[in-house]
Amino acid sequence: MTDKLKVIIKERELKKRIKKLGEEISRDYRDKNPVLVGILNGSFIFLADLIREIKIPHRIDFVSVASYGSGKQTSGAVLVLKDLSINIEGKHVIIVEDIIDSGLTLNYIRNNLLTRSPKSLKIVTLLNKRSRRKIKIPLKYTGFFIPDEFVVGYGLDYDGNYRNLPYIAQLSDFISPAIPSGG
Ligand code: IMP
Ligand code: MG
Repeated sequence: MTDKLKVIIKERELKKRIKKLGEEISRDYRDKNPVLVGILNGSFIFLADLIREIKIPHRIDFVSVASYGSGKQTSGAVLVLKDLSINIEGKHVIIVEDIIDSGLTLNYIRNNLLTRSPKSLKIVTLLNKRSRRKIKIPLKYTGFFIPDEFVVGYGLDYDGNYRNLPYIAQLSDFISPAIPSGG
């Protein structure tokens, strides 16, 4: 079965929105020397493009976690594969995420980083599947709200593939019929 791709956010829309986000961050973090923390692997392309739209001094770092769960569902239990290299105590930190789905993974990372006493801790996510949220997470910057469909491209993968696509596409073989809840 070949996967069918339907583009939902074009390359030029991504570029335009990310430029805006970069401008906002540059304005909000003037003289704050923030540390941008990318969540590997999904956020690497977004982070790379975002920082080129940030016109103030900043540093970057990465964390990598593995979420336990079956298939597309996260359980919230997280194993840290790569921790920060930078000491963020007293620093202004911005977590950079590709997509927030249930929110469980990011909630874990956020709480983990908060224990290290950053001066501030905010989140920027490229994509937000609001309807799927299981836990409330304060988001400072959101690129796009998207419907509850599985998407790939621009860093996001399905089984390790499709990260290279310069746009965000829906994997149409994932479109499943609506199932009434509670049944
Ligand atoms: P959460 O803990 O359920 O919020 O899971 C978030 C993580 O699952 C994201 O950082 C992505 O790596 C992955 N993810 C969630 N939805 C998608 C999707 O539609 N496409 C690709 N990866 C996704
Ligand atoms: Mg991710």
